[in-house]
Amino acid sequence: MSELLKSCMCTQAQLESASFQAWCDRLGQPRNHLHRKVWEWCYIAQALHERNLLQPGCRGLGFAVGQEPLPALFAAAGCAVTATDQPPDQAQIGGWVATGQHAAAVEQLLHPTICAPALFRERVTFRPVDMRSIPADLAGFDFLWSSCSLEHLGSLAQAEQFIFDSLRCLRPGGVAVHTTEYNVSSNLFTIRSGQTVLLRRRDLERIARLLRAQGHALELDFSPGNGPVDAMVDRPPYRPTMHLKLRIGRFVATSFGLIIQRQ
Ligand SMILES: C[S@@+](CC[C@H](N)C(=O)[O-])C[C@H]1O[C@@H](n2cnc3c(N)ncnc32)[C@H](O)[C@@H]1O
Repeated sequence: MSELLKSCMCTQAQLESASFQAWCDRLGQPRNHLHRKVWEWCYIAQALHERNLLQPGCRGLGFAVGQEPLPALFAAAGCAVTATDQPPDQAQIGGWVATGQHAAAVEQLLHPTICAPALFRERVTFRPVDMRSIPADLAGFDFLWSSCSLEHLGSLAQAEQFIFDSLRCLRPGGVAVHTTEYNVSSNLFTIRSGQTVLLRRRDLERIARLLRAQGHALELDFSPGNGPVDAMVDRPPYRPTMHLKLRIGRFVATSFGLIIQRQ
């Protein structure tokens, strides 16, 4: 990959590229599992790396981190990280605690094979934050990210609102990287509310137009991928491998990454 990563969907070719495979190694994820969740973490890391943001001195803010390995990865690179997730009572109701996809303290984010615990505790802080009402003092960050989360805020409108609100946490020129679930099978109908919503191409194009009108920069690429695994659609109960596209209700979805540079 010689040019900078764009906002795009998860593809087999990208996950099999040398840069993504190297992130799989650093994250302790098997190279050949071809899972969209691993793609999301690699995508966020690669987008920030290409923009020289994974450096000592850079400040990063993670939303809805669950127990993902990215705070540890970024701390190992020398960044100061503020990791956040929704308050525990809220997460309990949403079912995120029972499935081990929620963090309430920095200790739950330790990944000792990625970042030594002493360094991790020095560089990472944790606080509860609801993505629907971001505290005003979370500001001036060089970068921020969220993985597999904004689609769980209750509605398409709230997902969109979060994308705009999150940009207020960045310094001018700072970069936001969000991954979310994307409706590949329909640009007309979708899931607009509930536990998981699906953004369509038309939603992403409208969001992009509004962001550009405010002076922010992003480039959208809707290439669907042409590998054999790109053509496979996983069904519940989902497989741990070869899971790039999946059936959700009557739609086919995959992961989409957004990279936005604040004006
Ligand atoms: C599918 S998990 C993803 C966790 C993690 N980012 C990962 O990639 O493994 C969804 C996450 O969204 C969080 N979440 C859901 N609603 C939220 C809200 N209103 N504010 C903040 N986080 C929320 C959950 O607590 C959970 O951590």
